[in-house]
Amino acid sequence: MSKLVRFGISLENELLFKFDENIKRKKYTNRSEAIRDLIREDLVKREWDENKNVVGVITLVYNHHKRELVNTLMDIQHDYHDNILSSQHLHLDHDNCLEIVAIKGRAKQIGELFGKLKSAKGVKYAGFTETTTGRDLS
Ligand code: NI
Repeated sequence: MSKLVRFGISLENELLFKFDENIKRKKYTNRSEAIRDLIREDLVKREWDENKNVVGVITLVYNHHKRELVNTLMDIQHDYHDNILSSQHLHLDHDNCLEIVAIKGRAKQIGELFGKLKSAKGVKYAGFTETTTGRDLS
């Protein structure tokens, strides 16, 4: 565990008021915890910007009756098998499926994988969450 350091921040009244409103809304108990999370978010964003080894989660919603699309999504995932940690398929209703794909690898490569899945013809919705291996965060 690293040593705890205290430091002061100067900022405009109005900005601090808005920040406090936000952290109250998000149920933080103090400013320090909110600032720590902002710093961690910034560090994760940097991992992605610098093409580091990262982790992500893709969600896809599509109609499984479009057989060509099902095959296309499967082919793309096999092309990136080294990047795929897991894939979960949920039958939402008679027509719609939700697929949750956990991925890892270089940021650019998994961004490319997401781009291919998202642009497959017939995908109703594609979501992407950028996250981290957690190795460089304390
Ligand atoms: Ni299904």
